[in-house]
Amino acid sequence: MDHSSKVLEANAANLNHCAGLLQSGKVVGMPTETVYGLAGNALDETSVRKIFDVKGRPLIDPLIVHFSNLEAAEAHIESNDSVRRLAEAFWPGPLTIVVPKKSSIPDIVTAALPSVAIRVPQHPVFRSILERLDFPLAAPSANPFGYVSPTLASHVAHTLGSRIQAVLDGGPCDFGLESTIIDLRKPEAPVILRHGPITETQINETLNVQVSSHIAPTDDGAAQSAPGLLTQHYSPNARVTLLPHGEASTSNTAPAPQIALICNQKPTWHADQPNIFWLSENGDLNEIAHNLFELIQRLDQQGYQQMRIEQACEVGLGQAINDRLRRAAAKLES
Ligand code: TXA
Ligand code: MG
Repeated sequence: MDHSSKVLEANAANLNHCAGLLQSGKVVGMPTETVYGLAGNALDETSVRKIFDVKGRPLIDPLIVHFSNLEAAEAHIESNDSVRRLAEAFWPGPLTIVVPKKSSIPDIVTAALPSVAIRVPQHPVFRSILERLDFPLAAPSANPFGYVSPTLASHVAHTLGSRIQAVLDGGPCDFGLESTIIDLRKPEAPVILRHGPITETQINETLNVQVSSHIAPTDDGAAQSAPGLLTQHYSPNARVTLLPHGEASTSNTAPAPQIALICNQKPTWHADQPNIFWLSENGDLNEIAHNLFELIQRLDQQGYQQMRIEQACEVGLGQAINDRLRRAAAKLES
């Protein structure tokens, strides 16, 4: 069934309507600068439970809480100087910080962890909604659990439209990849839990310490201290295989018609083949990130059984892109 009527233009009447839905405990699809989120009242256990239900997400996978500013967040966390420095440098924006929580954040939000992931988003539509509310919004990416994150309102309508009343349309998400997550539970030893648009180097320079990256697979059913580690994360229906960076533009064998080949940049050969795609004319990492999830979902809807995707150069934003690609490809290996 077509749920495109659930996509609402972000005008004042619809913003008021969606704020009202959230006030009455409903969940709403909303744009952020990273990906679309599925938002609900973070301080209301029933609303938060709905988010998990709609996504089909296990309760052991905690949610990010979105605030309008640092001050609003500090009412619900045990703050520290490193939080304030990162907030000053990157908020509003695509950085999520994990810190000890106060009891005002319900346990269901954090999967009973004593810490909460917080973020102040930049997208004007999301900010306009927060301004209309007197509570923060819990919002995971607005995809069915395990699928690729949505970067267009239509992605949300297509996958979750039968289970929600509204998706606010904020256009294509600027970054197209989920936020960077930094664990500041030990402020002297920050750990990147998920790579994203704010790079490791930017965080190192802001905190003046070397942060570490910790991504160790755990599938033991315990609440995760690092995110996105459940198997089958960010996976399309098609089978994904990866090509090393640089290989897509040097190989000159055209793929079979049922296989989509996705290159970083426009290849110099066979570019006229209908099943050869590129994420950026000239391999720009911001463009690759911006276009990646949209292209994957479009090709999935077209019914490709296999996607062969070239990895990005493993620097800066390329780390985040490759992290998502590895997770998409891990589906059939696990
Ligand atoms: O860009 C984003 O971060 C988007 C937009 C909507 O804000 N949200 C997003 O949420 O990607 P989600 O739920 O799809 O991914 C958040 C990740 C999860 O994998 C979760 O495990 C981790 O953050 N997380 C949440 N709370 C945590 C906590 N207290 N400690 C450690 N990890 C946490
Ligand atoms: Mg997600």
